[in-house]
Amino acid sequence: MKDLLQPELGDPVLPDRTFTDKELEQEADRLFKQMAHVECSIYQKWTYEGCREIAPKTLEIKALKERLGAVILAHSYVEPEIIYGVADYTGDSYKLSRDAQRANASIILFSGVVFMAETAKILNPRSKVIVPDRGSGCSLADSLTGAQLRELKQQYPDAAVVCYINCNADVKAESDVCVTSTNVYDICAQLPQQRILFVPDRLMAENIRMEMRRRGIDKAILTSDGTCMVHDQFTDDLIDEARARYPGLRVVSHPECLPEVTKKSDFVGSTSAMMRYVVDTDAPYFMMLTECGLVSRLEVENPDKRFIGSCKLCPYMKMNSLDKIIQVLRDPSPEQVIELDEPLRLKAERSIQRMFHLTEGAQ
Ligand code: 13P
Ligand code: SF4
Repeated sequence: MKDLLQPELGDPVLPDRTFTDKELEQEADRLFKQMAHVECSIYQKWTYEGCREIAPKTLEIKALKERLGAVILAHSYVEPEIIYGVADYTGDSYKLSRDAQRANASIILFSGVVFMAETAKILNPRSKVIVPDRGSGCSLADSLTGAQLRELKQQYPDAAVVCYINCNADVKAESDVCVTSTNVYDICAQLPQQRILFVPDRLMAENIRMEMRRRGIDKAILTSDGTCMVHDQFTDDLIDEARARYPGLRVVSHPECLPEVTKKSDFVGSTSAMMRYVVDTDAPYFMMLTECGLVSRLEVENPDKRFIGSCKLCPYMKMNSLDKIIQVLRDPSPEQVIELDEPLRLKAERSIQRMFHLTEGAQ
């Protein structure tokens, strides 16, 4: 697995300028203080020497950001050297959408996956939005096009069209409202329509059905056929085995998981909600049924808590690397720059603004 995740590089990236030994040591100290806590068996274990090796790159990226007026937004699933080394804003899809909208920067570099960068461009068209790797897709976003959604809408003309944020701009443009894992249940519950066409995640649709029943709300949830290739791998027998082995274990899962898994979890929530749950919960062990990047963040930020191995890697999130960040800051290729047709952007923006309104009230 690790080989697949190695960045495909040509010549090694050499810094534009040299840094003094003192600057490099200070940077390595700063990185090591945080990254030494990464325990996840899938990730590289960070030594002081390892941090010293990447220090010229993180310093180079900081210098480039300053020179270009750029900010880096990084999803919690990307590797710790990006989160702790160079990111200005970190978090889940909802928080990063808000951060992108409010960012006052000439350049937004989005370290995550392409639909997230597209969302940043939809919300902040004045900034130039760039991505380290245009190939960083998402199995959910890739499962449905705007044209396919238009056909589905003809079959269910009375349904409210709700898109999960993990979709491309053309799907957002065809939707009445966008949701994230932060607000999906509350927004679906608030909509006046009895029928909801929820795309593109059929497992999240099943979780919505279950949650609406639990709340005593009568809704018919229709869907398309996408799944997250990371979260759909977790099975409920994993939970039974772990509970037998680790008494007091708390199981935490994401709503992209199978309903059999969410049913048996102690907590189900978005990436940020999962983090808050761990911080606020006193338990001997946690099993995080989600992407490994989040587990490494939790290890760094909660060194007193114990996590048992369970996480899976998203190969798309792992296409981000410090080398690619340097390259795209220095000299973005046309495909690394997110461009959107203005009428499409405006339509997509409406569905996201409606989400903000339904989540936070009038702005
Ligand atoms: P969050 O909205 O919880 O960050 O999830 C994004 C994602 O891609 C989950 O797989
Ligand atoms: Fe898409 Fe799943 Fe990767 Fe998230 S973890 S970006 S939903 S493939």
